[in-house]
This record gives sequence, structure tokens and C-alpha cells, in this order.
Amino acid sequence: MTAALHLSHLPCPPGPDAPAARTDWSRVFRAFAAEDCPEEPLYQAIGRALAAQPALLAPMDETPPEQARPNLYLAALHSLVMEAPASALAAYFPSVGGTRIPDAALPAALAAFVEAHEPALRALLRRRATQTNEIGRCAVLWPALQHLARAGGRPRLALFDFGCSAGLNLGVDAYGYRYLDPQAAPGQAARLEVAPASSDAPVATCRWHGAFPSPEPGFALARRLGVDLAPLQVADEADARWLLACLWPYDHERRARLSAALGVACRQRWPVQAASDGLAVLESWLDGLPADVQPVLFNSWVLYYFQEADRHRHRARIEQLMAARGLWWLSAEAPAHSDWPADVPLAARPEALSAGSATLWQWRRAGQAPQALAWSHPHGRFAHWLAPAG
Ligand SMILES: C[S@@+](CC[C@H](N)C(=O)[O-])C[C@H]1O[C@@H](n2cnc3c(N)ncnc32)[C@H](O)[C@@H]1O
Repeated sequence: MTAALHLSHLPCPPGPDAPAARTDWSRVFRAFAAEDCPEEPLYQAIGRALAAQPALLAPMDETPPEQARPNLYLAALHSLVMEAPASALAAYFPSVGGTRIPDAALPAALAAFVEAHEPALRALLRRRATQTNEIGRCAVLWPALQHLARAGGRPRLALFDFGCSAGLNLGVDAYGYRYLDPQAAPGQAARLEVAPASSDAPVATCRWHGAFPSPEPGFALARRLGVDLAPLQVADEADARWLLACLWPYDHERRARLSAALGVACRQRWPVQAASDGLAVLESWLDGLPADVQPVLFNSWVLYYFQEADRHRHRARIEQLMAARGLWWLSAEAPAHSDWPADVPLAARPEALSAGSATLWQWRRAGQAPQALAWSHPHGRFAHWLAPAG
């Protein structure tokens, strides 16, 4: 879940000598309901109901500190509801066909559900992480790769997705895209439609500000590989359910898109590897690439997982690969986790993007200043293209 992150009420890990204070989860969930899910009435109501019944929050004490946040509990609850669509609680979840709006009976249904599923809930909280794989970002990745290929004069690309989750963004050339004018009225035709490679592939819609992409891809993916600390397997039922459970229950559009992408990925089996040192995998992968293929390292919403010192070390290793091996680096991250290119002042960020959710797309290659390509909504709902056309 990479919606705007409000971190002020999240627990901080204690310092080495501090006594381990028990987190006041009721306070954390109350704040979450009030601030973090304005578009999700069900999670607002559940957050309030949990805050009022602190015993239901006891399983939160088992979450690893870096994952201890309401989003994880809600994803675990959602996953269990998806497995129990006949439960009273499921009646409130549109994602499993529920139509009941949050009402006075919700707190009791929630308590009964949590009590009945507590061991499974605890297991999910211990083992899982809030881990999305947002293919809406491919609506910006597709023109970004198009731009790299054209501007760099290298149409055959090899895409290496660092922090790929389930590897769904490796299918950027399989999905379809609808690029709308920024002010398009509902139902208005798209300015540009890119057809998906197959009829079952998802189509992502993006409101586009600035120079529109060319209708021709202009690039071909000759090779692709994804790495992740803990990749999710698209063909594994529990992993696929977890990816869907990390979406919010009222978000029909993302759920439909993700389900379709999972179907395509199950067929295509784009290669994804577990790796604790993804750059070491990248380095040996570069060794096996044909000379006419341009390697592109891509990361989207990954660098915020890094401590600052690790991020600097990570960047230095990539810069070495850029200089020595001709690697290009395409990065789509929040500005705080990106190198800030001198030509894109923060003030140029579109107003609709809050500092916590704005995604800055940048391209770097050896011997050239980083180029800012676009600002986008974190899920690709809209984008402001900054680079010259094509
Ligand atoms: C928010 S998800 C984004 C996934 C995908 N890039 C996308 O755009 O949908 C972040 C992913 O980064 C992975 N990750 C975090 N640190 C990593 C590291 N050091 N090496 C590899 N993967 C990492 C996490 O496991 C998670 O799957």
C-alpha cells in the first residue's frame, strides 16, 4: 500500500538501551482511521472498531517492528476474509461481493471473526509484509522505456526489475494503456490507446499531462529478470491472495487490473529470483547479455525500504556498474529517496501530489546528468511528463 504515508503516529523502534515500551495500538489504529484512509470507509470503520476493542489488537505485538502498522493487520484480515466469503464480516467487503455498508453490527462481526481466526491472523502478521505490485505504474514505465530507447538510440532493452515483488512490471509490454487528456470527462475517448498483447491482459488508464507518448513502442524487451528479497509467486494461491489482500476492499479498479496481470504472469512466467544482494545478481546477469542489448536497471517504490547509509552504498555500486558496464538506471521513487536532479525543483511538483506519495521518474547513465522524465501518482493514475517528446 503506497498511498500517502502518515508516519507521525507509527511506533518508532526503541533505541538499544531503551526499555521495550508496549505500543498503544488503539491510539495507532484510531489515528489510522482518522488520517490514512479517506477513500476507504470500511477501513475507517474497522480501524475505529479495533481501537475500541484493544484485545483484538494483541496480535499486533507479534509483528516485526519494521512491519508493525495498521496496513499489515488490515491486509491479513482481508486475506482471511477472502478465504471465508460466507462469514458475517465478509458481507462488508465489496472485494468478495459484500454489499453491506459499515453499521452498528460491524464491531461484533469483526470481534467474532478475529476470535475465530486468531491463530491464522497471528501467523500472517509474523510472516507477511505489506507488499504490493502495482502495474498501474507500467502506464509510465512504458513511455519511459520508449523514451530511453529513442533518446539513447538502443531499441533492444534488457529490463532488470530490482524489488520486483511478484515481477508483474516485467510484463510492461504485455499490458494495454489508455492515455487520457488531463481534463477528460468521464466516458470521454482516450487521446492514445495502446492495445494489450492479448485480450485477457489488463489495460491501465492514466491522465497524461505534457507531451503524449508515441503510439509505437519503439523498444523491444530482449531479456528480463526481477529480483526481490521476498518475491511472491504468481502461481501460488496464497501469494496471489496476499497481493490482492494488500489492496483496499473498495478499490475495484486496482483489483481487476491486478487479477488480470496475475493471469497473464501465470502464463508467461517472467523470471523472478529471491536475492538478498540483488545487485550481485544484476552483475552476473550483465555478463550473459548479447552486445546489442541495452541493460536497464529499474526500481519503483523500493528505495524507501533502505536506511540512508545503505541507500548511498547501493547508489555507489550502481554508479560503478553504469560506468564500467554501460548500465542505464531508471528509478521511480519518492523524491526523498531519489537523487534530486538540479533541473527539477520541488516546487515543480504538481499540486495533486503530496510529498509522501509523489513519484519522480529519473533516468541516469554514465557521463550524463540525471534526467527527470516524469512526476506521477504512485499508482499511475496520472502523470506529468517532463522530458522532451519521444
Ligand atoms: C512497495 S513494493 C514495490 C514492488 C514493485 N517494484 C512495484 O512497483 O510494484 C517494494 C518491494 O521491494 C522489495 N525490497 C525491499 N528491499 C529490497 C532489497 N534490498 N532487495 C530486493 N528487494 C527489496 C520488497 O520485498 C517489496 O517487494
